[in-house]
Amino acid sequence: MSGGASTGDTPGDRLLARMLARVTRLRSFRLRIALASTSIALIAMSVLYACSTYIIVQRRAGIVDRMLTAQLASPLFQLERPPPWSAIDAHINASFSGFALPESTSGFAILRICHAHAGELYRSGDWPAELTPARLPTPAQDPQTLDSHDGSWRVGVIANGPLTIWIGANRNLTNIQFDEQLRATFGRFAGAMTALVLLIGVLSWTLAGSTMRPLQRLTGVMVRINAMDLDQRVSTQQEDPEFAELIAVFNAMLDRLQRSYQQAMRFSGDAAHELKTPLTILQGELERSFARAASDPALEQGMANMLDEVRRLDSIIRKLLLLARADAGQLQIPMARVNLGPQLEELADDISLMDDSRAVRLDVPAQLMVNGDAELLGQVLHNLVSNAIKYGTAGGWIALTARIDGDNWQIDISNASDGIAAEHWDRLFDRFYRADQAHSRRVSGVGLGLSLARDIARAHGGALALADPGPGKVCFRLTLPTA
Ligand SMILES: Nc1ncnc2c1ncn2[C@@H]1O[C@H](COP(=O)(O)OP(=O)(O)OP(=O)(O)O)[C@@H](O)[C@H]1O
Ligand SMILES: [Mg+2]
Repeated sequence: MSGGASTGDTPGDRLLARMLARVTRLRSFRLRIALASTSIALIAMSVLYACSTYIIVQRRAGIVDRMLTAQLASPLFQLERPPPWSAIDAHINASFSGFALPESTSGFAILRICHAHAGELYRSGDWPAELTPARLPTPAQDPQTLDSHDGSWRVGVIANGPLTIWIGANRNLTNIQFDEQLRATFGRFAGAMTALVLLIGVLSWTLAGSTMRPLQRLTGVMVRINAMDLDQRVSTQQEDPEFAELIAVFNAMLDRLQRSYQQAMRFSGDAAHELKTPLTILQGELERSFARAASDPALEQGMANMLDEVRRLDSIIRKLLLLARADAGQLQIPMARVNLGPQLEELADDISLMDDSRAVRLDVPAQLMVNGDAELLGQVLHNLVSNAIKYGTAGGWIALTARIDGDNWQIDISNASDGIAAEHWDRLFDRFYRADQAHSRRVSGVGLGLSLARDIARAHGGALALADPGPGKVCFRLTLPTA
């Protein structure tokens, strides 16, 4: 039920409209290109960072293994009278301390030495209990990672005569500094990446904008083009081949359109022109025969009907001819200063003469000077007044008023009326369009008057519009520059 629902401009509606507008903007091609390139750059940089971190971690592990091997092969173990094992243990610890944080002082490495016959000769004091002999690698094996309750150890082994030596590097301690370094690099990398992504975003937005420029130019021309202006073309010079091709196709389409439009225009102009002469002759002949048929009432009536139809045809053809000229831009206007005041007065008198039941209001200055062709402008006024008579309420009022608005005259031809239904407003000026067919059929006319009147007004630098579609009153406003 929509009965009680409010469709007003509430804050909620406004918020919804704003959100919709934002989503619509996101659908912009330019924005999508910018977002896509930025995302690709972001993904590429993240993958690069992950790969380089992985490689660094691997290399780091390799360094610890190499150090273990080097320590195991230490000449200290080869001496005939080696220093005390505890001293060697301290020496090894010191070698691995370089990996750890400065504040950690011990526990970097552990040492265990076994003699083939005498058994265990030495074990570091902090050797984890979990690293039992059974878990330790044999001399044939590579270094292994072993976990104890207080950390993780990388343990390497070597057989040196009757001695087997195990050295373990504390992975926790040695990794801490490494993790710190990684964290610091990540911080720096994240900062640089954000700046870079922003820069790429701005660059892709600008680049996408400049890529769209030829399309914008094309759209601009498309918007400007109308039937009167088909000779516009978009230049393909300095355009990239991809766009130049599109523009060339568009220009070729305009060529074809212009050719067929000119052909159609020439045809209607030529046809109207060719029909005018035989019709004038026919009309003349009919008028003469009509005068001779005065003695036969039936013949006279028939002749009168034929004459009406021929006059109607003649009026249509003249209008078509004028319209064809206007379309071709050949509506020659011999510009002269014309006073429309007397013409409007005459028209007001004609209305009263034709139908004295109509109240006519005339409110125009005596000097209503415009530049143009008196006959063509007379045709415009005549059509508007005859429309007011034909379509106005029977016995209702008709008003002809004029006033200056800036540099223009505003001439209003209004009549009492039930109004014109909204669905006709946009089409009233179309050729052969007649609103309210049932009513229009009863009054003469073909639907060319307003179309022609508007063309003539425009050719004079003016305009013609439906100013008030009623109900109660219909008003057509003719605007013409003052002279
Ligand atoms: N003053 C008016 N009041 C109501 N409807 C009007 C008025 N003027 C024009 N119209 C409507 O607009 C239509 C088009 O008018 P237009 O002058 O172009 O053609 P027409 O009068 O029918 O024929 P034509 O002028 O070519 O002899 C008319 O058929 C009529 O329906
Ligand atoms: Mg008319």
